[in-house]
Amino acid sequence: MSAAQLQHLKLWFAGRAKNWDLAAYELRQLTDSLAEAAVFYPGIPVSNITTMKEPLLAIADAVQVGDERKFAASVRALTDGCNTCHTSLERSFIFIRVPTDQQPPANQVFAPIGGTQKK
Ligand code: HEC
Repeated sequence: MSAAQLQHLKLWFAGRAKNWDLAAYELRQLTDSLAEAAVFYPGIPVSNITTMKEPLLAIADAVQVGDERKFAASVRALTDGCNTCHTSLERSFIFIRVPTDQQPPANQVFAPIGGTQKK
């Protein structure tokens, strides 16, 4: 889940920087991590996984067209899903939020660097 935490954070900063290629990449990574978590922790109610599906698809749509508002809203919905699952597994003390702009991982550039960008 530490990987998911970092991917969630990077997804957010990439989208905020309108680096949609990086956001699409982090979204794929995060989706894989969540799928792995589902396999790794048997006992997780299926509804907790399906709850994540809708926001993940909404984020994918937002990233595809570069819709900043939809991106922010759907990442927030996804984040609620993280907490719903933690709470249902008696881990409500693991509370995830959309990162604040003061705390990016300082060792990675999030703005697009040349290359091929959609926008
Ligand atoms: C399907 C259920 C489920 C979902 C969805 C889920 N988690 Fe978790 N998460 C867990 C479980 C279970 C643990 C506790 C693992 C343990 O105790 O070994 C956990 C633990 C964590 C931890 C603590 C790990 C540590 O070592 O400090 C973080 C951080 C975390 N999750 C982040 C997230 C983020 C971010 C999301 C959403 C993108 C998310 N989780 C979605 C089930 C879930």
